Amino acid sequence: PDGSGRRVFRLTAQTGESKLLPGKQTPTWGINGALLGPTLRARRGQKVSVSLTNSLPDATTLHWHGMHLPAEMDGGPHQMVRPGADWNPEWEISQPAATLWYHPHPHGSTADHVLRGLAGMFIIEDDEADRSGLPNSYGVDDIPLILQDRQFNDDGTLDLSGATFMQSLAGVGSPGVLGDTILVNGTYDPHVQVSTTLVRFRLLNGSGARTYNLGFTDSREFHLVAQENGLLEKPLPLRRLQLTPGERAEIVVAFKPGERVVLRSFEPELGLQFPTARLGGQEDTFDMIEVRARDRLTESRPLPDTLRGAPSAISVPEKARTRSFAFNSFTINGKSMDMSRIDEVCPAGEVEIWEVTGDAEVVHNFHVHGATFNVIEYAGKKPDAWLRGPKDTVRVPPGDTVRLAVALPPHTDAKTPYMYHCHILRHEDLGMMGQFTVV
Ligand code: C2O
Ligand code: CU
Ligand code: CU
Repeated sequence: PDGSGRRVFRLTAQTGESKLLPGKQTPTWGINGALLGPTLRARRGQKVSVSLTNSLPDATTLHWHGMHLPAEMDGGPHQMVRPGADWNPEWEISQPAATLWYHPHPHGSTADHVLRGLAGMFIIEDDEADRSGLPNSYGVDDIPLILQDRQFNDDGTLDLSGATFMQSLAGVGSPGVLGDTILVNGTYDPHVQVSTTLVRFRLLNGSGARTYNLGFTDSREFHLVAQENGLLEKPLPLRRLQLTPGERAEIVVAFKPGERVVLRSFEPELGLQFPTARLGGQEDTFDMIEVRARDRLTESRPLPDTLRGAPSAISVPEKARTRSFAFNSFTINGKSMDMSRIDEVCPAGEVEIWEVTGDAEVVHNFHVHGATFNVIEYAGKKPDAWLRGPKDTVRVPPGDTVRLAVALPPHTDAKTPYMYHCHILRHEDLGMMGQFTVV
């Protein structure tokens, strides 16, 4: 913080080299380092001011995924930062505690820039959520886990050729590029040591295309306590949790002294097969990270029954307007992204119903900038409990519809749009994105 309590973040996007695979060097991109970026934290009510310097060879942007802020500060494809230039967005944190993230958003190159290593977490805190009783010592019992897959060449360089690969498979329903190596917080073959009986993990699926179906190797129960845009009203016991690219979740897990258990991604139940798994005959199961509990653990406060600081459900007015978005062949409503076309003009601060209909053959998800939504119907049914929290990204059922109650941003700007898009990054780059302004 500076003297006025403002959070000031000085960020430099830069090239570097990372030791990821044993005995190899990988050229990567990062923020203030060679790979990924620092976890940024700010409190509700605080002013944030960022100064981003682009020291990369390419123009890029930095988008605050999940943040409620004016469109000009959003870091979408209209806020490009040339090599050598600076960008200085400022805004006030006006939303409840949540696990957000940041990543580049240059139209057509988002997948490339994210896969090279640009991404980080942005944690929002608030006084109410501080009193929820959840573990909240950062790095001790409150641990961020950025889950990503990568494809490497034999010489240790990143294989970024996903677009060609994806296009060659598009006819048979490719979800996009899938890597066979998992990195967690930019670490290959990772483990984490824990020292308390309860640990909160902030999970981010920061992958380009892969969906994870997370659980522990002993199928132990854990509690979901938050989704992308804030806490749930009550902890929800689960054994498996699906996260599509861009989605976040916070879970609380209990550990016994001295034990080891692996967080694994199991074969996803996507309703569609992964063509790579099908064609390659391999299983789509990955060990994400091993958790090692110390021999002595500090006793945590028990998990609360209800969570203070949970935002209330978005209430939908009776006359709420409905907008429909249909996914088809890498288009939305038959249109491919056009930077100079505004697709939707929306009323500031209103609640609308957005219904998104999936492609029958390709799995997609849907993300809205600057807004929080609740899933009110999923494939014709009331959504499962784990889908009912405050969200900004959701899987779209193939050939079926998801209905969302979207709380539109209050910040008006007739010229600068926000984005909505599929968060499978190659799909977005191919044009599965649209623009809305708020007036
Ligand atoms: Cu994660 Cu349009 O963004
Ligand atoms: Cu976003
Ligand atoms: Cu998609």
